[in-house]
Parts: sequence; structure tokens; C-alpha cells
Amino acid sequence: MRIDVVTIFPGYLAPLDEALVGRARRAGLLDVRVHDLRGWASGVHKAVDDSPYGGGPGMLMTAPVWGAALDEVTASGDGVPRLLVPTPAGAPLTQRRAAGWASEPWLVLACGRYEGIDARVLADAGRRMPVEEVSLGDYVLAGGEVAALVVVEAVSRLVPGVLGNPASAELDSFAEGTGGLLEAPAYTRPEQWRGLDVPDVLRGGNHAVVDRWRRDRSLERTAAVRPDLLDALVARHGADAFD
Ligand code: ADE
Repeated sequence: MRIDVVTIFPGYLAPLDEALVGRARRAGLLDVRVHDLRGWASGVHKAVDDSPYGGGPGMLMTAPVWGAALDEVTASGDGVPRLLVPTPAGAPLTQRRAAGWASEPWLVLACGRYEGIDARVLADAGRRMPVEEVSLGDYVLAGGEVAALVVVEAVSRLVPGVLGNPASAELDSFAEGTGGLLEAPAYTRPEQWRGLDVPDVLRGGNHAVVDRWRRDRSLERTAAVRPDLLDALVARHGADAFD
């Protein structure tokens, strides 16, 4: 899978050399390319922003710079990529959306800064490729770079071959395997630590009992911190979701 990231702060994406994503890149499973938007800016100042029409605080990134960058990057491979644009005004990132993107051959991430990107950039790109705006949550970051890191990591670990043990993705919180609930708490050796014991059922070796225990803890935890996920489960499956 190929992923291009366009940003005015390429250094922000340095963590993509590390850990799971870094290993997957070196193994040839992921082709990640980070581009400096300023390379497409002109003039002595290489400006990428200007004040918004209609007034208001802050600056907007301009259409000509982004247009030139996206034209070149999206023409540099086979086929047409999917353009993802991190913004607090986007649809929330979910495991389901990440899983959908993981089966795409090519993603391009456009990182906005300041008050965002001139709206015509996405309108224009949408004439040639699928475009999605994506939000990490209901808070405002200083720019799209951290969100791009999150999207690349969430997607990469679902690309076949990237995780050593693919079963671990299936059992994650939010994945289909857990019915969209949060994962149960987990324990490893030692059996006793600072007066705290590993729950007996997990040491008993009865898989059916362990599964039931995990399901109960998962329901308990989800009800406590994410009741909205339980509501969604009931909406999808009715009351037999808890059988
Ligand atoms: N850029 C600024 N805030 C953001 C958010 N919450 N999600 C994605 N991109 C952003």
C-alpha cells in the first residue's frame, strides 16, 4: 500500500520511521512518502497562506499551492488515490473507516494548518478522486499532522502482513470480533504483584469460562465509560446482542 502525506512540517512525520510502521516500510509492505508543501509555493517568501474572504481570525492555506501539490502527487502513481483530509469538521475516525481504507491501494493525506485549507481545493480534487474529511475527535489540534500520524498507524496495522499476529487486530477494542465493545482488562506474569492477584478464572484454563468472563468485563467497562457503544450494539442486534 502507498501513502503520501503532504505537510508544511515534514519533520512532524518522523515517527513513521519507528516501530510497526517503520518496520512495515522497511519490509516493503508500506510505501510512505512525505512531501513538503512549500516545494509548490512560489515567490521569495514561499507563502502558503492568506487571510480569509469574509473576515475572521487567522489565515487559510491557499488553493493554488495545494492544487499544484495535489496535481503532482496524485499523478505520480498508478490509478487514482483516495484523498483524506484531517480536520475537526470531518466525520469521526472509526475502526470501521480505518479498515475500509486499509484495503485501498493508495491514500494521500493533506495536512492543513492555520484555520484550514481553501474549500475549493477539496471541491476540485473531488472532481477526480474520492475525498474524505476525517476528525480525530471533538477538540482542535494545531494542524492535521498528528491526525495524519494517527490515521497512518490505525490503517497500517490492518494491512495484511504488517501485524505479526493478525488475530490481535480482530480482538481489539471496537473491532467486529468484540461486537464493537471495549476490550476486557488483561494480565500477565507475575501472578501476584503488590498485593494484587490475577483473576482466578484466567488461570483456570477453561476457555468457555474465560470467554464469558472477558465478555462480562467488556460489557461492564463499556457501560461505565462508553455507554454510546452499547446503545449502538443494541440498535444493530437488539437485546440478543448480550446472549
Ligand atoms: N486538525 C485540527 N484538529 C483536528 C482534529 N480534531 N481531527 C483531525 N484533524 C484536525
